[in-house]
Amino acid sequence: MRLRPVVVTVFLAAAVAYFVYLPLPEKIQEPWKLMLLDAAFRATVGFAAIQDWLGFDHYIRSIRWSTERLEGMMKTMGDPRSDGEVSSGVKVSDITFAGVPVRLYEPPAGGEGHLRRGLMFLHGGGWALGSGKKGSYDATNRRVSDELNTVVVSVEYRLYPEVHFPEPYLDCLTAAKHFLSPEVLAKYSIDPERVGVAGDSAGGNLAAAVVQELATDANRTVKFSVQALIYPVLQTLDFSTPSFVQNQHMPILPRAYMVQFWLQYLNADFSLRPQLMVNNHSALDQSVITPELRARLDWTVLLPPKFKKDHKPLVVDKGSNGIVKQVPALLDVRAAPLLAEPEVLAKCPRTYILTCEHDVLRDDGLMYARRLQDAGVTVTNDHYEDGFHGCFSLSFWPVDFEVGKRVINGYLSWLHTNL
Ligand SMILES: *[C@@H]1O[C@H](CO)[C@@H](O)[C@H](O)[C@H]1NC(C)=O
Ligand SMILES: *[C@@H]1O[C@H](CO)[C@@H](O)[C@H](O)[C@H]1NC(C)=O
Repeated sequence: MRLRPVVVTVFLAAAVAYFVYLPLPEKIQEPWKLMLLDAAFRATVGFAAIQDWLGFDHYIRSIRWSTERLEGMMKTMGDPRSDGEVSSGVKVSDITFAGVPVRLYEPPAGGEGHLRRGLMFLHGGGWALGSGKKGSYDATNRRVSDELNTVVVSVEYRLYPEVHFPEPYLDCLTAAKHFLSPEVLAKYSIDPERVGVAGDSAGGNLAAAVVQELATDANRTVKFSVQALIYPVLQTLDFSTPSFVQNQHMPILPRAYMVQFWLQYLNADFSLRPQLMVNNHSALDQSVITPELRARLDWTVLLPPKFKKDHKPLVVDKGSNGIVKQVPALLDVRAAPLLAEPEVLAKCPRTYILTCEHDVLRDDGLMYARRLQDAGVTVTNDHYEDGFHGCFSLSFWPVDFEVGKRVINGYLSWLHTNL
């Protein structure tokens, strides 16, 4: 029978197409690239879940392992742009800052009386994945160092499952204090008035939290002069903001993944996920969440009408008792910087917030921008109508999106003017 191979091939092709195909919003450019990336990501997560279930390895470590193999494969396929081209003359060294591993990028110019800019960078990956030494992060930090004559410090803070909150935050805070010390700034010829901090996603969360802590530290003479937050994660109490609802199935960060990352980071029981997804944890009968706290993330007040559309807030009257007591970190400003009081926000430096329309975290960023502005801080909000979560770290070969390149250029251009 010659028919059988044909049938099998057609069936397999249909199965693959079914797995890969995903209806995406019209504005998304290069949709097939994003579908393939998402399919690869879902396959990796599925494979990791099986390995975990069989008892071979923790699923997070399996995901890291697969990602590294994949990157290795891509590398052997050849990068059309050599590293040297991206990083002309930037000196890269892997060292520690007060015991925290960091990658340091020193630009060729400067030193000897020529003060340079400084920038601390905190990578994303849900406090569980990623490294500043990899792919787009490394390439972007080299570019910033080279093109903006900046000493960049990319922090390799510890991740889940090895540690939980507040450990990653404390690693970043320790590295930041070391970086901002007069001795270190002098050693690398950095202008103390021009030191910023930047981070994407979970890294944006850590950056915002560290900035708040340092801003209110009266004993500190040198502080960050700017913060650049790329689609930051900022709050734990409302997983039904318009952007969470609108993008709940959007790659590469569906709502369920974001809630899972939070539970992991806060060392909470994963069985709480369905309750968090329906805002049961922040029901009105939870008296520890005061009206004042609620107002700090009330999107019906904080979002412009353009983003509210006809969405309705999901406010539960009676929820599941005790979740906030069981997981007190849900209300800790060091985990959820959007919960900070206006007096703290008023002390924050000039801010850049990048938001993407097709991102569950869009409204976290938009609300923080509004609250910082209300507190008197100068804020630039670059909103990308065709942006999606993750595009900032998808800007270099082999996973390079056109919107990723635009986003990086916008980030560099803001730093150029403001840092
Ligand atoms: C600031 O320094 C004083 C005196 O050394 C100390 O008592 C105080 O606890 C410090 N404050 C902070 C926020 O570290
Ligand atoms: C949310 O809380 C209500 C009231 O306790 C409960 O009936 C419901 O099952 C909870 N929802 C989920 C998804 O756990």
